[in-house]
Amino acid sequence: MFVDVRDSDFLMDVEQVEAAITPRTTAIIPVPLYGQCVDLDPLMAVAQRHGLKVMEDCAQSQGALYKNHQAGSVGHAASFSFYPTKVLGAYGDGGMVMSNDEAVIRLARSLRFFGMESQYYSERHGYNSRLDEVQAAILSLKLPRVDGWIERRRAIAARYDQGLAGSGLTLPRENPAAIPITCTWSSIRPTATACCSDWPSATSTATFRTPGRSISCAAAPISDITKASSRSRNARRNEFSRCRCTHI
Ligand SMILES: Cc1ncc(COP(=O)(O)O)c(C=O)c1O
Repeated sequence: MFVDVRDSDFLMDVEQVEAAITPRTTAIIPVPLYGQCVDLDPLMAVAQRHGLKVMEDCAQSQGALYKNHQAGSVGHAASFSFYPTKVLGAYGDGGMVMSNDEAVIRLARSLRFFGMESQYYSERHGYNSRLDEVQAAILSLKLPRVDGWIERRRAIAARYDQGLAGSGLTLPRENPAAIPITCTWSSIRPTATACCSDWPSATSTATFRTPGRSISCAAAPISDITKASSRSRNARRNEFSRCRCTHI
């Protein structure tokens, strides 16, 4: 199930989450888009009330803060992307799963290496998704410079805000509880309800697996989402049934 975003900061409207929970829901995936954290305190309270896990999709929010907590450190688990365009980007694909739950880490280690727990014995269906040493070395060299890059992104975003003030465009607002890093800056209100089958050039798919269930969501450039949201509601509804997403 998707919940819509807020007009103010283009992030998940946490007030809509409770109504979207069904008996099949096992986890909530807040997506801190454009480098700004979703309102995590009320979201964690909803999750606790319903016995759900929270998995933060931090692909665009490395280094962002939520009330002095680093993005990815509030939920039960978090995923990060090191795709070259990200704040901390490698020279090829890469990513990281973070959790303080030993079971999640064990599962992630196994899934990234053909589902193995001991050598050459696959316990489950997994992937070939190890971070190679060259990418790891590049990331290690870049890591100490990330704070400076974040400052620069924030300064550039402030100039956009200033320059576009009064232009009639809806500009993303900073959530006072969260220090954003401005991963991407967009003045177009995206829609979280567009089905990803509408996104012709969806660039990537994130998949989380829990026992017996997998949850996937596609990410697409804003221009595609905007195209999708201008299509008729009926066309979108018809295509929803063949969407690649697995909905919770
Ligand atoms: C919010 C979000 N989630 C997930 C992803 C997927 O990251 P990756 O391409 O490393 O799988 C991206 C990448 O664009 C993203 O922006």
